[in-house]
Amino acid sequence: MAGSRNKGNPGLMGWIDDRFPATALWDDHLAKYYAPKNFNFWYFFGSLALLVLVNQILTGIWLTMSYNPSAEGAFASVEYIMRDVEYGWLLRYLHSTGASAFFVVIYLHMFRGMMYGSYRKPRELVWLFGMTIYLALMAEAFMGYLLPWGQMSYWGAQVIVSLFGAIPVVGADLQQWIRGDFLISGITLNRFFALHVIALPIVILALVVLHIIALHEVGSNNPDGVEIKEKKDENGVPLDGIPFHPYYTVKDIVGVVVFLFVFCTVVFFFPEGGGYFLEKPNFEPANPLKTPEHIAPVWYFTPFYAILRAITFPLFGLDAKFWGVVAMGAAIAILFVLPWLDRSPVKSIRYKGWLSKIWLLVFAICFVILGVLGAIPATPERTLLAQICTALYFAFFILMPWYTRMESTKPVPERVTG
Ligand code: HEM
Repeated sequence: MAGSRNKGNPGLMGWIDDRFPATALWDDHLAKYYAPKNFNFWYFFGSLALLVLVNQILTGIWLTMSYNPSAEGAFASVEYIMRDVEYGWLLRYLHSTGASAFFVVIYLHMFRGMMYGSYRKPRELVWLFGMTIYLALMAEAFMGYLLPWGQMSYWGAQVIVSLFGAIPVVGADLQQWIRGDFLISGITLNRFFALHVIALPIVILALVVLHIIALHEVGSNNPDGVEIKEKKDENGVPLDGIPFHPYYTVKDIVGVVVFLFVFCTVVFFFPEGGGYFLEKPNFEPANPLKTPEHIAPVWYFTPFYAILRAITFPLFGLDAKFWGVVAMGAAIAILFVLPWLDRSPVKSIRYKGWLSKIWLLVFAICFVILGVLGAIPATPERTLLAQICTALYFAFFILMPWYTRMESTKPVPERVTG
C-alpha cells in the first residue's frame, strides 16, 4: 500500500517517509514497478518524449529571458538571441530542433501503441490521455511558431486561424475572438506567448503525470500483447516482469545516447533541417502586406494540411473549405476512439491476421505520403493522390471493427517471448 512503507524507521528517509510517501512513490513507480521483460527499442520513445519535454521547458525558460513578445520587438529579439546572447544560438536551436524531435518521438511512440494494441482494455485511458497530450502539443507548437514573428509565422497563423472562419454562423466572430484583433497583430502575439510559455506547458505536464499514473495503475503492455499480471509468483510479482529500476532506467540510457547523437548532429550541423525545421521565409520579418509565394505548415502538421486541401468540392450546400476543416478535425478525432474500433481477440500485430497487418501498413504509408503532399504546392495530380490517401486513412479506422473480427489470428503464447 502506498503511504504505509518505511514509516517509523530511524534515519532521514524514515523521517521523510513519516511525512511524505517518498519510498512508496519510488517503489510504486520505479524499484517495484514490474515492467515486461521483453520491451524492444519501440519502448524507448516514452522516456525520450520525457527527455525532449524537459529540454523544451529548460531551453524555453532561458529563451524567454531574452525574447520580446511584441510585434515591434519579437523578430529583432530572436536575432539578438542568435547573435549577441551567450550561447543564445544554442538555446534557440535546441528549442527549435526539440520541437521537431518531439513530434518524431511522439509519432513513433503512437505507432508503437498502434502496433502492439497498447490502447486496448485496460489501457484506454492511457491512450486518451496520450491523445489529449498530442492535441495540446499541436496547439503548443502552433503558438510557438508565431513567436519569432517571421513571414511564415505570420502567414501560417493567418491560414490556420482563418480555418475557424469556415465554421457556419459563428466562424467570423470566433476568428476575431482568437486573434483579439481584426487581423493577426501584436495582440495575437501577446496571447499566443502567454499560452505558449505558461498555460499549455502546465496542461501538458499535468497530462503527462496523468498518462503515467494511468499506465502504472494497469501496467505496461509489451510487443506480445500478453498481460503479465495474469501469471504471478508467490510474492505477487509477475513472472515475466522485471523492476523498472535498475533494468529499464539503465536500458533507456542506450536510447538516450543514440537519440542525443542524432539530435546533436541536427542541432550543430543542420539546425534548419533543410528548410523543414526552420522554414526559409521565416528569416524575413512578418509583413502583413506581402504573402509568401508558398505557405506550408511545419512538417509535423503537413499530413493534416494535405487532408484539409484534399477536400475540393462543396457538399450539402456547404463549401469545400468547411468540409476540409471537418475532414482534418475528424482525422485527429478518430484516433481518440481507436480503442473501441479494434475488435480483434488479440492485441499485438504479431498475432493479428494479414488484413490488420496490411491495413496498418497502408495507414502508415498514406500518413507519410500525405505529409509529403502537404509540404509541396498542390497540382491536380497531387490533389487526386491526397484524396486517395485521405480515403484510405479513414478506411483504416472505419473498416477496423470489421476486418479485426473476420480475419483469423495466430494463437497468443501464455508467457512473453524473447
Ligand atoms: C509528452 C508526451 C508523452 C510522454 C512524455 C509520454 C510518456 C510515456 C511513457 C514514459 C510511457 C511508458 C514507457 C513506454 O511505454 O514507452 C508511455 C506509455 C504509453 N504512451 Fe505515452 N507519452 C506521451 C505521449 C503519448 C501520446 C501522444 C500517445 C498516444 C496517443 C501515448 C500513448 C501511450 C501508450 C498507449 C502507452 C502504453 C504503451 C505500452 O504499455 O505498450 N503517449 N508514455
